[in-house]
Amino acid sequence: MSSALIDGFGRKIDYLRLSVTDRCDFRCIYCMAEDMTFLPRQRILTLEEIHRCAELFVANGVRKIRLTGGEPLTRKGIVGLCENISAIPGLNELVMTTNGSQLTKYAQPLADAGVKRLNISLDSLCPEKFKAMTRVGDLQQVLNGIQAARQAGFKRLKINSVIIQGHNDDEILALTDYAIENQLDITFIEEMPLGHVGRSRDTSLFSSDQVRDNIAERYTLLDSTENSGGPARYMRLKDHSATRIGFISPHSNNFCSTCNRVRITVEGKLLLCLGNEDSLDLLALLRRYPLSDEPVLANIHRALNNKPEKHHFSSDGDVQIVRFMNATGG
Ligand code: 5AD
Ligand code: SF4
Repeated sequence: MSSALIDGFGRKIDYLRLSVTDRCDFRCIYCMAEDMTFLPRQRILTLEEIHRCAELFVANGVRKIRLTGGEPLTRKGIVGLCENISAIPGLNELVMTTNGSQLTKYAQPLADAGVKRLNISLDSLCPEKFKAMTRVGDLQQVLNGIQAARQAGFKRLKINSVIIQGHNDDEILALTDYAIENQLDITFIEEMPLGHVGRSRDTSLFSSDQVRDNIAERYTLLDSTENSGGPARYMRLKDHSATRIGFISPHSNNFCSTCNRVRITVEGKLLLCLGNEDSLDLLALLRRYPLSDEPVLANIHRALNNKPEKHHFSSDGDVQIVRFMNATGG
């Protein structure tokens, strides 16, 4: 049973982002409220259900899967899950987004389990500011984790930095230098209005254009046509060919026409677009049809037909999407 996943606008879906937990050992100010309640176990996908989702989507044309969270490495059994998913015939690439806090322990097991690439969040190189942005994180632990990932042989490691005015907008060049020195890619992300995180976002938007201008004070940025099918635009740096610089500007939606991805939240909701609330309750379907994929797939096709053409984040900083990022999966 297989049929390509094509949406109502003719876009082929070959990239699935799967959130494996809503829990995290950090409390980043742009992602969570200080005091979070996490989901009870019966409301989240089991490891078996996550694997079944992966199989179902790969059998129908998905070639790349990214595991996200929360923090994926806080989920018990994550390495075994990676082994099982990376072994699914037809999958080209299993990758993961992590906060890096446990990579000294997990980098090598993840590499051995077939994870091909890691995106690691790093918003500051100053221990105090790092602590302020993550509320609890220890910078040195993450820096050690990044080195462990390099030693485990990961290629094309990527740093994700969310830049927030007044918090870390003065660290753009330091983060760029760090990426160059360690031969990493780096993507600068504008804050997205997801969930009520307990602070106003009106005055804190630091735009990708501002980031680019800042980098241009020290480096020569070269245009690049590289495209991941997603919202990131990439540039290269003159004289530093090992590092790509990406920019994610969620407030612009001109990348939507080439969107190739869907998400499954930790609650088993199939999200067709990060910027819209429409979803399909996959968890309910998987539990209603434990032995038959066909009705599940029929519902997925129906939902895909309704994948929105574009997202519509408001530009005035008001929250329209009430989901928190940690339950959505990056
Ligand atoms: N806006 C932008 N990026 C976010 N992330 C988490 N919450 C937000 C938000 N509100 C990013 C983190 C991490 C990835 C999982 O998502 O920086 O890199
Ligand atoms: Fe955790 Fe990532 Fe959210 Fe930070 S952004 S709280 S590291 S899930």
